[in-house]
Amino acid sequence: MENKLLKIKENTLGELKIITNLKDLEALKTKVLGRKGEMSDILRGIKDLSDDEKKKIGALANTVKNELTEAIDAVEKGFNKGTTVKIDISEPGVSYKTGHLHPISEVKKEVEDIFASMGFSVVEGPELDNEYNNFDSLNIPKTHPARDMQDTFFVKGLNYVMRTHTSNTQNRVYKNFKPPFQVIIPGKCFRNEATDASHDIAFHQVEGVVVGKDISLAHIKGTMKEFLSTLFKKEVLVRFRPGFFPFVEPGLELDFSCLLCDGKGCPVCKKRGWVEFMGCGMIHPEVLKMGGIDTNQFNGFAFGFGLTRLVMMRYGIEDIRHFHGGDLRFIEQF
Ligand code: PHE
Repeated sequence: MENKLLKIKENTLGELKIITNLKDLEALKTKVLGRKGEMSDILRGIKDLSDDEKKKIGALANTVKNELTEAIDAVEKGFNKGTTVKIDISEPGVSYKTGHLHPISEVKKEVEDIFASMGFSVVEGPELDNEYNNFDSLNIPKTHPARDMQDTFFVKGLNYVMRTHTSNTQNRVYKNFKPPFQVIIPGKCFRNEATDASHDIAFHQVEGVVVGKDISLAHIKGTMKEFLSTLFKKEVLVRFRPGFFPFVEPGLELDFSCLLCDGKGCPVCKKRGWVEFMGCGMIHPEVLKMGGIDTNQFNGFAFGFGLTRLVMMRYGIEDIRHFHGGDLRFIEQF
């Protein structure tokens, strides 16, 4: 019996060395350690032995059984390592918070894409600029109320201001582009004023300048109708009202037909049927001259609208101060 045990041990360890897959291993395990296996046979036979033999063979049988169990387990582990990765496909995944663009950035991108598709270049100007660019080069006289301390953030002791409008970049564009050209200038502007639901000290504008031959007011209307209809994905009407800005002549305000009521009148347009949108006009010849443009050959139009207001209209945001309020509950809605 002792020999038989040692033979089982030897054969099993030998087979373990050449085994190549889990299926064969399972078969070997059943053959040696299973309920009707070789080791069970031996253990069953022990009861017929003499007391002395019982002790001796019993102990040996246990040792062999343990050794073989261990050896088989070790080989089994080796197989499992590289082959079976258990994936619970019903387990919920780990979700990562990715964040998203600010609604103003998103609409800005859309606006840029539409104007780019219409042949406009997109440029940026500085938020901190000298008074020449923000005022003088735009025909805004030294005594103009817009220069008042209440409207402008001045830099102490310097000739610099936080730009009050994106028109500050007009002069640079005139000096650096060769007509004909069409450019938009999106950017942040700053005004030193009391804040309320529709006024903040920082807001976004989009400036536009088009310079070429025989430009007329009809070009402003056509350009803005096309732009707004593309942005809002429906036919939008535009109309002019007289307006005044020192850097355009004639100066105009442009309205568009209310998107909610199609011009019939509703609370959003305050029963007017029209929404005030932007200032615009034919660029004042003095302004073109200061930019080095030959006014005998070229003329042009300029416009400036509030991007922040556009975003408010699109999403029905009633208070401009939400944008810079830092409340994530606001931002996370978009
Ligand atoms: N800069 C003007 C404003 O901030 C808008 C404007 C731009 C008007 C260009 C006319 C032409 O209100």
